[in-house]
Amino acid sequence: MIVCVCHRVSDRDIEHEVRHGCTSFDELQDELRVGTSCGRCTDCARDTFDVARACRPSHADAALVARGLQVIAIAPAVQAQVVG
Ligand code: FES
Repeated sequence: MIVCVCHRVSDRDIEHEVRHGCTSFDELQDELRVGTSCGRCTDCARDTFDVARACRPSHADAALVARGLQVIAIAPAVQAQVVG
């Protein structure tokens, strides 16, 4: 799915950046320029980025998995509902 028409950025492009170490939306914008022209894609791009980050284990999570512990990823929107 194309997320940013101005810069031809897809959800796969965003997921690729996250898999390769992108840790902030500002960094994502520096790399892909997503949301830096008309800005109409910014909410969708941020949601796509947040979901991709939630699905990617952090270094701390990877250490837990290596020790045999299970890590469950929860999207930020769901976390907000769980926490209240
Ligand atoms: S659609 Fe992404 S900046 Fe315009």
